Amino acid sequence: MNTLTDKHILLGITGSIAAYKSADLVRRLREQGAQVQVIMTAAATAFITPLTLQSISGQPVYTQLLDAVTESAMEHIELARWADMVLIAPASADFLAKLAGGHADDLLSTVCLATNAPIVVAPAMNSFMWQAPATQENCQRLQQYGIKFFGPATGSQACGEVGKGRLLEPNELVDQVQEVFQTQFLAGYHVLVTAGPTREDIDPVRFISNRSSGRMGYAIAQSAKMAGAQVTLISGPVALPPVAGVQLISVYSAQDMLTAVMTRIATVDIFIAAAAVADYRPSQLFSHKIKKYDADWQITLERTPDILATVAALPHPPFTVGFAAETDNLLEYAREKLQQKQLNMIAANWVGVAGIGFDSEKNALNVLWAEGGIELPCAAKTELAGQLLEIIIQQYQQNGYLPHQKSGSY
Ligand code: C5P
Repeated sequence: MNTLTDKHILLGITGSIAAYKSADLVRRLREQGAQVQVIMTAAATAFITPLTLQSISGQPVYTQLLDAVTESAMEHIELARWADMVLIAPASADFLAKLAGGHADDLLSTVCLATNAPIVVAPAMNSFMWQAPATQENCQRLQQYGIKFFGPATGSQACGEVGKGRLLEPNELVDQVQEVFQTQFLAGYHVLVTAGPTREDIDPVRFISNRSSGRMGYAIAQSAKMAGAQVTLISGPVALPPVAGVQLISVYSAQDMLTAVMTRIATVDIFIAAAAVADYRPSQLFSHKIKKYDADWQITLERTPDILATVAALPHPPFTVGFAAETDNLLEYAREKLQQKQLNMIAANWVGVAGIGFDSEKNALNVLWAEGGIELPCAAKTELAGQLLEIIIQQYQQNGYLPHQKSGSY
């Protein structure tokens, strides 16, 4: 069976003696049904000719960023959009450094900055170059950016050394490419996640908010990205770093969050409301700091818009998932919310229990939908996020939803 049928693989070849294996890699990827286009750096062309790769890929090979003919058609952007995966094999130490530094001074590095597709590097270099602190630091940074590594392998090297730094064999690279596509169960889906608290101003220095850390929403956004989705994360004020490859929209109040969600919702396939939106805001916003007096002070509060219910009430809503955080009667309240807000699914979690829920690294969820439910026991929020997304996609498909952009490309 061809496991890579119609997958678009953009293969980057950089300057390493292992570049001779790239021709065989292209052949094997095509045997599995993939379409392969090749970009070579200048150094790569010293090891293997573009003509060889052109003959084997059946496509023109790209070597220039500023090509007078092709660049008029924004070649780097078109290639970046075409790719379902950017695979750089072999990836030299110099190219890893360039990628870690965010350089864009040749076609391959520019495409890597411009693409939304997963980027995978298969390093190949002398074992001392691989172990060099600078290389290891670059690799750590690339992993933080969400870039995956295939290898390197350990063994004898072209330079006569024996050690870590060999390019994986083409058949091993193809196996790993297949694995990546198998885990990409959200490829072609646009997932919108809300996260964190909102702040509702009383005056220029005071606000009403809650204890949400945003961790659950950020973990969902990251897992969705890793599963291949296009992810938009709309976040209230949190102390978390942005998630690599995820579009982050920072908002402040419930009203800001509603506006940010509604302007993007038309293209969304799955909406996950993990934000702890403030339910009330002061009816009046004071433009100056309220002075303190001896007497008590009362603030009148009004309801904030219910973002989740607004989305679920749209004529053509996306698959809509809410959260219910409760201190008592968890399942009962959660089922009520599922029905009242017309949701496809709700993830219920206890709050006020030590070690889980709000402002914690861990959580436990009861996931409910109209005809059933499942319990996800206490685990790291990152782990729970992946499990939740798998349940969402099962229910999504069972309900016969179709993603907006699912185009048959992985
Ligand atoms: O009604 P309750 O606030 O308990 O519902 C919680 C769910 O609704 C969460 O998914 C939360 O993100 C969402 N919500 C919202 N807008 C609000 C209040 C809650 O989207 N104003």
